[in-house]
Amino acid sequence: MIIEPRMRGFICLTAHPKGCEQNVINQINYVKSKGEIDGPKRVLVIGASTGFGLASRITSAFGSGAATVGVYFEKPPAPGKTASPGWYNSAAFEDQAQKAGLYAKSVNGDAFSTEIKQKVIDLIKADLGQIDLVVYSLASPKRVHPITGVTHNSVLKPIGENTFTNKTVDFHTGVVSEVSIAPANEEEIENTVAVMGGEDWGMWIDELKAANLLAPEAITVAYSYIGPAVTEAVYRKGTIGRAKDHLEATAFAISDKLKDINGKAFVSVNKALVTQASSAIPVIPLYISLLYKIMKEKGTHEGCIEQMQRLFADRLYSKDGIATDEQGRIRVDDWEMDSDVQDKVAALWAEATEESLPTIGDLAGYKRDFLNLFGFDVDGIDYTKDTDEMVAVPGLV
Ligand code: NAD
Ligand code: NA
Repeated sequence: MIIEPRMRGFICLTAHPKGCEQNVINQINYVKSKGEIDGPKRVLVIGASTGFGLASRITSAFGSGAATVGVYFEKPPAPGKTASPGWYNSAAFEDQAQKAGLYAKSVNGDAFSTEIKQKVIDLIKADLGQIDLVVYSLASPKRVHPITGVTHNSVLKPIGENTFTNKTVDFHTGVVSEVSIAPANEEEIENTVAVMGGEDWGMWIDELKAANLLAPEAITVAYSYIGPAVTEAVYRKGTIGRAKDHLEATAFAISDKLKDINGKAFVSVNKALVTQASSAIPVIPLYISLLYKIMKEKGTHEGCIEQMQRLFADRLYSKDGIATDEQGRIRVDDWEMDSDVQDKVAALWAEATEESLPTIGDLAGYKRDFLNLFGFDVDGIDYTKDTDEMVAVPGLV
């Protein structure tokens, strides 16, 4: 089968198995090139198939030789349809891990559910005994609550009196326009916190601990974002920001519960990157295309794998201890938030138009990263060649 990108709105309906595999191999090679990390040996990654979660799994396995259990929600291939990219990523990861003699098993299903949590607990009990690190990296637009059965949908809206109005770009066409988003009501705020806040992270840790599956000194990390002044009203001070506040507060609550095993929970604030989740957010793609341009010029640009390798090597498993900000958060968004970078982005933001953006911003880099998420436009792949479907994920339980 010859697979091409098929776009609908902000999403791509197809994914390329060979391109996804190459992305995974490139990430593995990057981690290996940076040398060994004296890190965790048994790792659970919740949200392990794409973005920061996949990069965390690769860093654990190929940086520290860890056995990994991955949880994700991905579509297998079906007649006439490719699998979702995370399916192919996981097939490739597990294939590479097994070839390297590393334990890698996965559970595909709804991580918010009691059933999937139980399945993971049974797997860890049977195969690994205990876990040294739990990475929580879910990004989802909705959550069915495991106790009430209610479906919560998250929204991206400002909070308060004012409608948010600012520039945005359609990165497919390059058209810069103005977008207005009316403020959320109380129910929308609560729903967003229910999906992207820390409740589910807390539930995972409670259940793992109750089953005695957390090793002495186990740590857990979840990912957050802060970002620039231009997106503050709609992001960090909006509904998603409220959920991130809740996630960050949950780290302290979890740390309290882990005191008896000397365990600890952290939130790591990561850099803005092109992922399926961030591409759907208005304003962010314009910011990212300006940010990429400046960070690439300065030589400080990173992708998910560079971020996660640095998180493990220089923060979580650093010989010098785990550095945090005054609110207890790990910061690997430090290079993004550098004041010179932010001043330059703010100046370019003011002058960004459809005409200027291709030169003052890295719109081409944005588009390429977006296609890469689906395994397209990856160096070294011949897209005119017939592709064998990767149907099986070797470690799928
Ligand atoms: P992503 O979309 O690439 O990854 C999401 C993962 O969650 C995938 O593995 C997916 O399969 C899994 N998932 C989604 N719903 C699930 C469900 N119900 N059950 C099981 N698995 C499910 O997202 P990402 O950008 O890597 O985001 C991960 C975290 O990092 C999020 O908390 C996000 O807010 C945060 N973050 C993202 C950025 C960014 O710019 N992308 C920056 C900082 C922090
Ligand atoms: Na992820």
